Amino acid sequence: MNVLITGVSSGLGKEVLSLRNRSFAVYGVSRNPLTPHVFSYDSIDTLPNPEVLILNAAIGDQGVDFRAFDADGFKEIMDVNLMQPLTYFSTLYRSGKLTNLKQLLIIGSRFSSLPYIQSQEASALPGYGYCISKASLALFVQVLRKESFPFSVNLVHPGVMNTVMGSPEGIHAGDMAQKLQSKILDDSFLHEFNGIYALPTDEIIPF
Ligand SMILES: NC(=O)c1ccc[n+]([C@@H]2O[C@H](COP(=O)([O-])OP(=O)(O)OC[C@H]3O[C@@H](n4cnc5c(N)ncnc54)[C@H](OP(=O)(O)O)[C@@H]3O)[C@@H](O)[C@H]2O)c1
Repeated sequence: MNVLITGVSSGLGKEVLSLRNRSFAVYGVSRNPLTPHVFSYDSIDTLPNPEVLILNAAIGDQGVDFRAFDADGFKEIMDVNLMQPLTYFSTLYRSGKLTNLKQLLIIGSRFSSLPYIQSQEASALPGYGYCISKASLALFVQVLRKESFPFSVNLVHPGVMNTVMGSPEGIHAGDMAQKLQSKILDDSFLHEFNGIYALPTDEIIPF
């Protein structure tokens, strides 16, 4: 199975790439394609046609305080977390690279969920940019599904991981990479879940 994942120089993406083997042929897409099997975003022609595409690359945010709203920072996070994955997906599609695609997985967050955001105090929120970009991905998934593509589309919350974006007390990103691999290989994500798939618990968080 050919798997293509964006953002592989650290965190979850790096761990998924490290699981590469004969039956799980992972290729990475990175701003810094320094290792074998990792491509730059603009080297579309040489990419293998993936059966699974994982849009993973993202940046974090600093907490909500609208009195200190930083328009440039907001634009950047909307660009990296929302515009870039949509644009890359569309580029691959138009280039004929997604003819084998069976599973589109977008790495969202529990903050992709409006009910989850509503249930939190402001102090527990990661920032306007992160909440709005990740919640927009939930809307994107629901609109994209209306087009009835021949592949499934799912949004996945990988849990709070022990990455730079996450927390030192978080779950080991390697464990979540293995869980993601097992769910891909057993075809769990051929089903389109009516919410955000929480990888650590297998729960569905409402959109
Ligand atoms: N960590 C958590 O606790 C947590 C919780 C919920 C959801 N998530 C989600 O899980 C995914 C992976 O998170 P992670 O913790 O593994 O993150 P991470 O370690 O920060 O890695 C994210 C990757 O995104 C790419 N990236 C960083 N800045 C970028 C930029 N300006 N433009 C384009 N790409 C950029 C990098 O890949 P390259 O250098 O290879 O381009 C980087 O390796 C993200 O979508 C995140 O929102 C994480």
